[in-house]
Amino acid sequence: MKPTHVAVFSAKPYDQAYLTEMADERVSLCFYEMALNSMTAALAKNAEVVSAFVNDDISAETLKTLADNGTRLIALRCAGVNQVDLTAADKLGITVVNVPAYSPYAVAEHTIALMLALSRKIPRAYNRVRDGNFSLDGLLGFDFFGKTAGIIGGGKIGLLVAKRLRAFGCQVLIYEPHNTAPAKQAGFDVVTLNGLLGQSDIISLHCPLNDATHHIINAASLRLTKPGVMLINTSRGALLDTVAVLDALKALHIGYLGIDVYEQEGSLFFEDHSTDIIQDDIFQRLLTLPNVLVTGHQAYFTREALQHIAQTTLQNIDDFMTGKTLLNRVEIR
Ligand code: NAI
Repeated sequence: MKPTHVAVFSAKPYDQAYLTEMADERVSLCFYEMALNSMTAALAKNAEVVSAFVNDDISAETLKTLADNGTRLIALRCAGVNQVDLTAADKLGITVVNVPAYSPYAVAEHTIALMLALSRKIPRAYNRVRDGNFSLDGLLGFDFFGKTAGIIGGGKIGLLVAKRLRAFGCQVLIYEPHNTAPAKQAGFDVVTLNGLLGQSDIISLHCPLNDATHHIINAASLRLTKPGVMLINTSRGALLDTVAVLDALKALHIGYLGIDVYEQEGSLFFEDHSTDIIQDDIFQRLLTLPNVLVTGHQAYFTREALQHIAQTTLQNIDDFMTGKTLLNRVEIR
């Protein structure tokens, strides 16, 4: 049987390594390091399957080009689907599958890493000690024990973060508008969003990005939060209104900001811009603040997650090509 031609976009060397290791003769993988968008879609000519990642632009225009060239399946290598025009895909007869949970542990652990690194000022301490400076001035932290932590989104990752914070001795509140049973079963208090915002010393976002959650943290919601609040976002950049967050940081209202995702990350993250003049002034201003810690969408990035992404993506493709039930089909909501 002829192997299925798969065009893999945003394929970094580590993606290529894991996919190549796990693929068999039933697929022929063609890797492109560049992102998928309306300009690059033409490269996927004759690829029945196109595989894409978080910052690819899978708009109606991109999908039209893919459909015209014979693509029938978009195999996302990520959980989030906000980058795909699902209605357009449906109209064009293109099926979309994703990897719903590659390693919720990886993201939860990175979230905790951001919290502790911010509170105990680890980046600053690391640089100071390497410079022979053992002064503790400016390194004062706080105990997590006894603090209130608010988790927005009580799904897989949110609950793992909640359990880890509970182990530190935090009181954990969860805002979850859809499926509250898992949070309640795990013994957490499910509260309103405003209740969470008003009571939490630490707020961490673990909900998907959609119309209801776009800028869920904005100037108005920040006014409800405690002065000195720690805000953590490892979900999607546009959950935060970054301008409002920057204003609240400058007003000394937000005490700490830890982000692994950024509203305009598409043109920055996953690439080396160390010799470029970065034009995004909001992002650059954030980086100047001592109480802001930014990582470049690496929360998911563990060996276990990459293995799982490759395995699930190849299984999704095989199920589609052999007409099996698609366990990870993305439906229009
Ligand atoms: P999940 O689907 O298990 O949980 C998301 C929860 O958010 C669900 O319980 C859902 O009901 C809830 N939710 C929906 N609308 C909401 C709203 N308006 N307000 C509050 N909660 C709402 O997803 P999972 O696996 O926990 O992932 C969470 C997010 O983490 C993903 O949407 C994705 O954006 C992000 N993520 C980030 C990664 C990274 O590397 N930084 C890697 C993987 C996921």
